Amino acid sequence: MSTVVVVGAQWGDEGKGKVVDLFSERADMVVRYGGGANAGHTLVIGGTKLVTHLVPSGVMHPGKSCVLGDGMVIDPHTLLEEIADCQKQGLLQRNELLIGLGAHVILPYHKLLDGLREDRHAGTAQAIGTTRRGIGPAYEAKAGRRGVKMRDLLRIERLRELVRNNLDELNPLITHLGGTVPSAAEVEKWVSDAARAGEKLAPSLGDASRHVYAAIVAKKPILFEGAQGCLLDLDHGTYPYVTSSSTIAAGACQSAGIGPTHINAVIGITKAYATRVGSGPFPTEMHGEFGERLRQAGGEFGATTGRPRRCGWLDLAALRMGVRLSGMTGLALTKLDVLSNMGDVQVCVGYKLDGKALDEPPIDGEDIARAEPIFQTFPGWGELPRATQSLDDLPKTARDYVQTIAKLAGAPLALVSVGPDRNQTIKLADPFAG
Ligand code: IMP
Repeated sequence: MSTVVVVGAQWGDEGKGKVVDLFSERADMVVRYGGGANAGHTLVIGGTKLVTHLVPSGVMHPGKSCVLGDGMVIDPHTLLEEIADCQKQGLLQRNELLIGLGAHVILPYHKLLDGLREDRHAGTAQAIGTTRRGIGPAYEAKAGRRGVKMRDLLRIERLRELVRNNLDELNPLITHLGGTVPSAAEVEKWVSDAARAGEKLAPSLGDASRHVYAAIVAKKPILFEGAQGCLLDLDHGTYPYVTSSSTIAAGACQSAGIGPTHINAVIGITKAYATRVGSGPFPTEMHGEFGERLRQAGGEFGATTGRPRRCGWLDLAALRMGVRLSGMTGLALTKLDVLSNMGDVQVCVGYKLDGKALDEPPIDGEDIARAEPIFQTFPGWGELPRATQSLDDLPKTARDYVQTIAKLAGAPLALVSVGPDRNQTIKLADPFAG
């Protein structure tokens, strides 16, 4: 096996940073393929925290090729800041980064529109609760064939024309949403700043699809690092409360520009409980004191926006859906330790709607609001051993819990994480092994 896709199994924030970091050890190349600075990974290097939004977590392993695929939407200024942060930590010293020339650019007006829409709908069902990073508006421009690609940053006349044409259409919308139309001077500054950022990034810009393909042909181990989670997928998630990209494993092919026959394994990451940021259905959400306890114990605050994450019980019906949508060949279960000393643990095993039993959550918003989750209860467990090598080291009830997750979700466990450190990991299968 040489190509592995890692995806979040639910609504993102499943602990991808640690898992990708572990799997990256085995890879020669790590490819981030979708989304933009809406994602956030907190990486710890020798006690120092590094938060990345765009650069793949593989950056932690010097010398590995790190690719930003054409399906991404990139804020060039955020990327330059991140590169500088990495370089301060001694990372990215060897030209490891390759940025797809075909990736789309997030410009200030995308962020402006994203924020204006969120403000306008705040407190209503129309608010998506986005990260305000301009993701939706940038993908709208892409789908509308008006987007600005990274390669356009290298041709200032073309860039200026694209930006002006876009704003010609968007200015009335900005006014309609209660915003202030940018002045000509401001627009020119956006253009020149973006062009300058493009100049700085130029040595790292290239043909990402061919670069990845060359590694596939050379049979190099490659890790495709998904962003967000399967249920935030634009086509298959809890629409409209989704992001604007393809977050399921198929997105790796489409966004990185490789054929589906080149993917060997798909690992879905799930926490031992569930979280969600932003709006949208979350039937197993725990409100009140228990939800708050879980939030504090798990440190459930967004790495990108700092927003408190909504917390609840693991939804195996939703996980089953993620397993199906991404064709997961294995599961990485994270943060099992957070459920220690929490009393009985519940897990949703299915739904009931209009007298019918459902093995996956209904996807329609109104149906899911009416559906009744069916819970199974597991007796709680105390502290887990600090350094565990095998499932046998876990208390019996915790072991039963993780085994039930794999059985009902329909995918075997590849690893179980019982703490933030690398040695707090039970490795059960190597996705790169053949
Ligand atoms: P957007 O991607 O900023 O447009 O936000 C759309 C929805 O996806 C919102 O509910 C966000 O909270 C959610 N979202 C986007 N990126 C992430 C992520 O990396 N983790 C968790 N939720 C995310």
